[in-house]
Parts: sequence; structure tokens; C-alpha cells
Amino acid sequence: MNAPAFAFARRHLLGIEGLSAAEIAAVLDLADSYVGQNRQIDKKGTKLRGRTLINLFFEDSTRTRTSFELAGKRLGVDVINMSVGSSAVKKGETLIDTAMTLNAMRPDVLVVRHPDSGAANLLSQKVDGSVINAGDGKHEHPTQALVDALTIRRRLGRLNGLVVAICGDILHSRVARSNILLLNTMGARVKVIAPPTLVPGLADRLGVEVHHHMRDGLRGADIVMMLRLQTERMRGSYVPSIREYFRFYGLDREKLAVAKPDALIMHPGPMNRGVEIDTEVADDIHRSVIREQVEMGVAVRMAVLDLLSRHLPNYAADGGK
Ligand code: NCD
Repeated sequence: MNAPAFAFARRHLLGIEGLSAAEIAAVLDLADSYVGQNRQIDKKGTKLRGRTLINLFFEDSTRTRTSFELAGKRLGVDVINMSVGSSAVKKGETLIDTAMTLNAMRPDVLVVRHPDSGAANLLSQKVDGSVINAGDGKHEHPTQALVDALTIRRRLGRLNGLVVAICGDILHSRVARSNILLLNTMGARVKVIAPPTLVPGLADRLGVEVHHHMRDGLRGADIVMMLRLQTERMRGSYVPSIREYFRFYGLDREKLAVAKPDALIMHPGPMNRGVEIDTEVADDIHRSVIREQVEMGVAVRMAVLDLLSRHLPNYAADGGK
């Protein structure tokens, strides 16, 4: 399990696709070692002092943007948050022109969230520093999958052999895609549960079992991961009504009863209580690990920044001193 950090020899993190089990384990091991630092009073380290990170978010975010900012600061990085709503993007500047403008200021890391699949990949071909995909359309959200994996691994000690049920809007979810890729690579068994309208056409190619009834999909699950209805990506109506949706696909005590008795409940956030998850289940202090996921978010992003920066062209092993 203790893969050496040099197993992760990359400059960009664009997706889980293509990462080996050793690379994933290397990120998780290093992230684990940052959890303690985040629980101290003095959380500030200097390992990446002198580096600059720009958060470039073209979509809304609470958890991801904040945790990248904290992760950077806790390693001594200078962090800039670009608010696209008040940037030159509003004046018609293209994604590439914005990125090239920022690139000229020599940031070491660009963290990008964008509504188009492939946006982070495109930027990685243009800029000199590292690019981290913080969510590109329906495609991937690699750091969220790593966060979820670390949360599970710390609770249950492993990923291999676990049964993970991912329920909700699979069709529009980059979190689901990245999680499926990661969990398959690490030897877990993934079941997805959604109404037929919210499952991607080629879901079976992703190597998952597809279920349309919660009772079938949740049976025997070690982990129940709930997803929000991503209405901002929907054109037209995918579910009859919110009430119907909650009745059939909302996680409550009754539906949860068919999962393993100690099954953990996860959600990447933002949660819509009473739509995909009942409040009582979401706040269950024994089984819900939703807040732990948020805590692990900072540690995982510290590990990713640490690892990627070792492969920047100007990296000095002594920290540049
Ligand atoms: C997710 C996202 O943006 O893809 N949120 C997150 O990063 N934690 C999921 C969502 O928006 O529903």
C-alpha cells in the first residue's frame, strides 16, 4: 500500500483516466501524511514557498476552490483567485487568451474549472506550469475522486474488494466518472443506480453494474455515494418531479436498510436535502462521512500540489533555497 511518492511522475492532473493503482496510492499516502498538519493550530508549512497558484473558475464552487486555496497556503504558496464573473472573460476574451495572459505572469499552477469537457487538457498544452482539472463539464473531477478514496481508505482500511453504490444523476456527473475510473483501478466493485434517463448510454462500458431500483443497487453496499441532480447541465426534463424523484431515488433510512449494516454515506456536495438525500441520513453521525470528505479535500489537494510541483521544469529538490 505504501507506494513511494515518485510513483507519481506527472506535471498535470487532468483526470483519473490513465493513472495507475501505484500512482493513485502515492497521492493517497502523501495526502494521509498532510491530515495531521491540517489539525494543528499552526497549519502553515513552507515546502512550496515562492510558488504561485491561480484558481481559474468558470463555474461556481465552494469546497473545491476554497480547499485548493487553503492547500496552497498551507504549503507556503501564493494563491490568487480569479473571479471569472468580473474578469475580461465577460468582455469576450477566449479561454486560451485568458490562460495565455495569466501564463505570462508565470504562475506555477493553474487550477481550472470549466463547463466544457477537455478545457483543462487544452490549457495544459498551452501553459508552462502545471494544470489541475478542478472539474471540466461532465468529464472528470480527479481531485474529488481522490478525496473520496482517501475518506474511504481511512475509514475502512482499503478500497480493494469494496462494493460502492453511486446513486443519482450519473449522466451529468464528472464526480461519478472519476470515481468509477478510480474505484475500478483500485479493485472495488461499482454499482450505479439512477432512473434510465440519468444513466449514460454506454454505462456498461465503464465497467459498472447499472440498476434502476435503489433496493437492487444498494443491496450489500459498503459505501453509498449520493449525487446531486445537476440541473444546470440539463436541457429539458429528466425527472417527473422532485417529489417523485425523492420517493424513488432519495436516500432515506428505509432504502439504506438493504445496504451493509455499517455502510458509509458519502456526498461530494453541494447537497440538496429532501431531493437526493434525507436530512436524517445526511446528518447521521455514525454513518455519514460527508464532513470528513471536506476535511480530506485540503489534504488531497496539498498532496497533488506537492507531487506535481516536483515535475515543474524549475523544480529544485531543496525547495529552491
Ligand atoms: C461537484 C462538482 O462540481 O462537480 N461538487 C464538488 O466539486 N464537490 C458536484 C456537484 O456540483 O454536484
